Amino acid sequence: MTWDIRMRNNMFRRLPVEQATGRLYGGRHRLRVVYRTRDLIVLGLGVMIGSGIFKISGQQAATTAGPAVIISFLIAGGVCLLAALSYAELSSIIPVAGSAYSFSYVAFGEVWAWVVGWALVLELLLAASVVARAWSLYATQALADFGVPVPDWLGGIIGQEKGFDLFALGILVLLITMLATGSRMSLRSLWFMVMAKLIVIGLVIATGLKFFHPGNLKPFVPPAQPAPQDAQTVLDALLGAVTGSRPEVFGIWGVFAAAPAIAFAYIGFDLIATTAEETDDAPRAVPRGMITSLLIAVVLYVGVAVAMVGMVSFKDVDAGKPLLAAAFSGVGADSMGKIIDIGAVIALTTVILVVLISLTRVVFSMSRDGLLPRPIAGMSRYKVPSRATLVAGGAAVVMSQTIDVLTLEQMVVIGTLFAFLFVAASVLALRRDRPDLHRPFRVPAAPLTAVATIVATAWLMLNLKVQTWGYFTVWMAVGMVLYLIYGRRKSQMRLLLDAPAPERPVAAPMVAAPPPGGGAFLAAPQTASWQSAPAPYGPGPRGGQASGGYLGLGQQASGAHGPGVSPAEPRQSPPPAGPYPAGRHSSGQYSAGTGSTGQYPVGRHSGQYSHDPAASGPATDPYTADPDAPGPYSGDPAASGQYAADPGHSGPWQGEEHPEPPSPGGGRHRR
Ligand code: ALA
Repeated sequence: MTWDIRMRNNMFRRLPVEQATGRLYGGRHRLRVVYRTRDLIVLGLGVMIGSGIFKISGQQAATTAGPAVIISFLIAGGVCLLAALSYAELSSIIPVAGSAYSFSYVAFGEVWAWVVGWALVLELLLAASVVARAWSLYATQALADFGVPVPDWLGGIIGQEKGFDLFALGILVLLITMLATGSRMSLRSLWFMVMAKLIVIGLVIATGLKFFHPGNLKPFVPPAQPAPQDAQTVLDALLGAVTGSRPEVFGIWGVFAAAPAIAFAYIGFDLIATTAEETDDAPRAVPRGMITSLLIAVVLYVGVAVAMVGMVSFKDVDAGKPLLAAAFSGVGADSMGKIIDIGAVIALTTVILVVLISLTRVVFSMSRDGLLPRPIAGMSRYKVPSRATLVAGGAAVVMSQTIDVLTLEQMVVIGTLFAFLFVAASVLALRRDRPDLHRPFRVPAAPLTAVATIVATAWLMLNLKVQTWGYFTVWMAVGMVLYLIYGRRKSQMRLLLDAPAPERPVAAPMVAAPPPGGGAFLAAPQTASWQSAPAPYGPGPRGGQASGGYLGLGQQASGAHGPGVSPAEPRQSPPPAGPYPAGRHSSGQYSAGTGSTGQYPVGRHSGQYSHDPAASGPATDPYTADPDAPGPYSGDPAASGQYAADPGHSGPWQGEEHPEPPSPGGGRHRR
């Protein structure tokens, strides 16, 4: 069996990092740059501050941790910060829309990427559905609190915990339509909404602290009590099997048991990574935006938790009602209830919006790679991934209306934590396999930090309910079946490996002056076939002859032509050094063929990486293919120069994108 055949059938085929990122400055990259660091911070706060803080925090205080929920917030925040460091490092190396999915594709291979992508789909689909339901509850409460008359016929179809709910349906349909049509939703509107919710959170903390009474914190860790039947965690079950102990809530275990549920509140910092393709100077902006927004969230959440449990005794509140509002009415500050209603409606709107955007980006990435039907990755003429929006949004609508999603909040958490595990492990894998990569952000004290992230995340996962693990296993099993019957066959990686061998013999330029290490590649016959594949466009401008188009770039130290250069329309500006400036590999990674740089040792990577995405152009590279085009080799319009001239927009924040800065590599790049 040749290397190719093994690879073709190999579910562990890995996406070369250059393949994942190479399009950033060319063919694969299709999304328009709209974000800067401060936008990412707002985006992070936009998605984090939602029902987690308004609703779940109180629930956990009342049912699982008591006043020690403050510690649960710190534990969950600490684990999320650890994970954020890994996300930050990987986003700085692989700043693409797929986030953890793409990182796993590069670090571990396709089947793991699918598994992580599928878990992300679960996280985001359910998050959109759960928060839409919570939105309906708060909107209905707001109508009641403000004395707005509600017609009788609406009574049974709004503010429902399960079954058909008009408000939940309405908010989802509204936001999906807005995103799919690329309406000119302004980034400024998001800023406005986030500022509004920050004001509400500030008021909650300030007002709550006015009523703070230290006696309400006693006992800080309430004595343990038997847990309700459906609250048994995996850890409880394991301990029960070993020691015969019964599951408990409150007590010291309650503090830990509440932490994963509380992690719901932090979900969203990870979603910042999905905006990397749309962020200016993503390798630096994404880590900064992610970590800053998470730190702000930790401070705010701990502030709210202290205010909430300090106002009233957790024993005196009705666990069925949101504790936050109940606590304020308990101290006679009823007007705060109305403010919380408004804050929650605004906050939850931004959560749903950003979750839908991220869901769309993940589905778009998986479809672009062929693991989901490729037509889903089609873009509208405004460069909006509208089909992914409609498909993913449609699924969220169906889920929210048919399933009792409010009981499945932990499913959102398990999907997220599962991705954390892979992201931290990807840091370790890439540090080992690709120490050469330029890392604008590095996890401090890796691998210790990455291992600690894995252990802490696994610990949180063990504190999730047995029922949650059961449902998650079913979801992942369904995903695996889908991969085996669809994704594995349709993967663009497979097409890449299946591409016809060249008819012409190995061209002379292939061996011309490879940088050190290149010889190792060229010694492998399979790699030579890739490197010498003729460009169907015939002689192009890059190398003066077709084969030179593939390998000649290895000799262009300055990278005068970057990825996606069209033979018909050469790129005007050189590919910027971008995230990999001035590093020892800077010219090799983008401007030179990876195959010729010798960055990859001979071995399992040799053939896969010997193909140079930057040099191949659209004709040979399925990744550059437009999903709307008839075949994988039909070429990406982006690669033919349309990018530079395309006035289209990709994101929901149209009309607000900032001018693109000069590329660090010289010239201005259009993305
Ligand atoms: N963190 C988001 C929320 O709390 C998902 O609603």
